[in-house]
Order: sequence, then C-alpha cells, then structure tokens
Amino acid sequence: MNYSCIIGTGGYLPERCVPNGELEQWVNTSDQWIVDRTGIRNRHLAAEDQDLCDLAEIAARRALDAAHCQVQQIDLIVLGTTTPDRIHPSTACLLQARLGNHGAMAFDIQAVCSGFIYALSIADQFIRTGAIQTALVIGADIYSRLVDWTDRSTCILFGDGAGAVVLKASQEPGILSSHLHADGAYKDVLTVPATVAQGRLQGDGFTKMQGSEVFKFAVKALAEVVEEALVANQLNIKDIDWLVPHQANLRIITATAKKLGLPMEKVVVTLAEQGNTSAASIPLALDIAIRDGRIQRGHKLLLEAVGSGFTWGSILVKY
Ligand code: ACO
Repeated sequence: MNYSCIIGTGGYLPERCVPNGELEQWVNTSDQWIVDRTGIRNRHLAAEDQDLCDLAEIAARRALDAAHCQVQQIDLIVLGTTTPDRIHPSTACLLQARLGNHGAMAFDIQAVCSGFIYALSIADQFIRTGAIQTALVIGADIYSRLVDWTDRSTCILFGDGAGAVVLKASQEPGILSSHLHADGAYKDVLTVPATVAQGRLQGDGFTKMQGSEVFKFAVKALAEVVEEALVANQLNIKDIDWLVPHQANLRIITATAKKLGLPMEKVVVTLAEQGNTSAASIPLALDIAIRDGRIQRGHKLLLEAVGSGFTWGSILVKY
C-alpha cells in the first residue's frame, strides 16, 4: 500500500508588519474592534516589488531543506493560490523555473482559502496511485492586492504569505484521508467579481464579502468536514493531537472547536501575528507548530479550511 508522508515544511512572511494601530490611520476602525471581532493584531504585507513567486520560492526552499530533498527529485509541483503572478503560465511553472526543476508536472489550484487543502489532497492521490514519488505542495497568496484598503469591513482581515510542504511516498501513513467539497450556489457571498477581457480588468477587482454569512457557513461546514474525517477513520475527536485550521478568524476557530468538543490547547492558532493569509495559512501554521516542537512525529493532525466558492475540506494526517 502506498501512502504519502510530510517530510519537510517551510514558510515565509514578508518583512513589512502592519499592526492594527496603523490601520486606524487608513480606515475608521480600532485595535480593540479588530482584536475583539477577529483575534488579529498584525499582518505582513508584501513589498510592491515582491511577486508571489518570490514568497513561494523562499517557503519552498525552506521546505526542501527541511526534507533534505533535491530539486531534481520533485515529480509534481502543485500550488494553491488566488493571486497568481500571471494569467498564465501558472505560478507553479514560474516557481519550477526559479528552482531549476525541469520536467515535473506543475500546475496551480484555485480554491481560494481551501487551496492548500485541495493541493495537498491532489498530491496525495498522485503518490497513492504510485504515479509519482515526491511532491512539492505550496499555498501562497498576496491577498492584500485583492483588498480595498478603504473598506474597513474587509481590509482588517488579510495578510500575505507562503507555506510549503514536501510529500514523499512511504509504506507507512502518512495522509490517512482527505475530504473535499464545494458548493457554487454561494458564489456571491464571498467574491472578487472582476474578469479580464480585451486586455483589461473588467468589473470590480476587490473582495466583496457578506461577513456574517461567511461566518455562519464556515462554522457549520468545518465542524461537519472534521466529523467526516473522524468517521471515515473510525476515530474520536479525543484521538486528535492537533487541529490545524485555516486562520480566518479566531471566533470561527473557537466556535468550530467548541462544536467539536475540542479544547483550544489542541488547536494551532497563528492568526494574531499574520491575519488571514488565504491559501498560505495552513502550511504556515503547520510549519510554525512543527518547528517550535508542538507537533511531533506520530501525532494525528486534522487540517481544515473553508474559502470562497464555497470550497471546504479536511485532511487527516499521521505526522
Ligand atoms: N472597525 C470598526 N467597525 C467596523 C469594522 C471595522 N473594521 N468593520 C465593520 N464595522 C462595523 C460595521 O459597519 C457595523 O456597524 P453598524 O452596526 O453601525 O452597521 C458593525 O461594525 C458590525 O458589523 P458586522 O459586519 O455585523 O460585524 P460582525 O460581528 O459580523 O464582524 C466580521 C465582522 C469580523 C467580518 C465577521 O463577520 C467575520 O469574521 N466573518 C467571517 C469573515 C471571514 O473570516 N472572511 C475571511 C475570508 S473567508 C475565509 O477565509 C473563510
């Protein structure tokens, strides 16, 4: 039986850190409001001359170093993002060129905040079928470029970043199961409605969000998709060592944990210092908790995310 195992992780946050206090100068908000409603205190924003590939390359190289993996060994590069550097080629191909890999499969996945969960699941399927041995999976977004910095209802939430993992074929698990879903009926609840035509952006290129609708859907969908993973593996929530959730909002995370009966001591929370980094948030959280020693080999991890679409999913991992 083939499984895929996480053998290395890496992350990168841009240097510029913007605290809530700085946002008070841009929009009519307060540090207190942002902390109370979201749990976010700081976010990191990419510099104007930084592109997504710059962020992804640093995270990828850190993951490859941690995995002691050579660039030529990579058979697949799959990158979850909503903010690619170009319409095409994919940022995965741009990253492939930077890394100096020739011939591996490379493509992007667009599932917004669920992008990393989708990408990791796809890489796992390729390894399980025996088609490939080694995959580089990245979640990266410069989401600040899709945010109207005069709209206080959205701009306080987001930050930029990249996270990466190296997956390798193994006889032992590994990724135990993944559970992916989407429902396009919710396409207008959270959206950037613009498109490109005649060489120009047509329509509104900023994030439109019905915040409380997103909140309600997220808590329900996340609790359900975590239960789905537990049932599929005949496990109880008490068997889980760490929940590694998408870092959208502390209130979504705590409400989901409460619904599942999971103490917050078993939840990896990084959003206070990063905000919502979209597809990057789960691999960044994973990397932090592995490097600081919270996540140990043998631990059972539940990764979960929800994003625009809506898309949502969970992955159960024996690390
Ligand atoms: N500062 C001060 N006041 C604000 C701000 C702000 N930044 N933003 C909104 N307000 C005001 C509103 O104008 C409103 O004022 P009013 O009552 O006078 O009209 C009041 O605060 C309450 O606004 P609500 O939108 O009802 O506030 P709510 O409690 O729903 O919190 C929030 C808003 C934080 C966005 C919440 O709905 C939420 O977390 N939703 C989830 C959204 C999310 O996480 N999206 C991320 C992308 S999706 C994903 O990653 C899963």
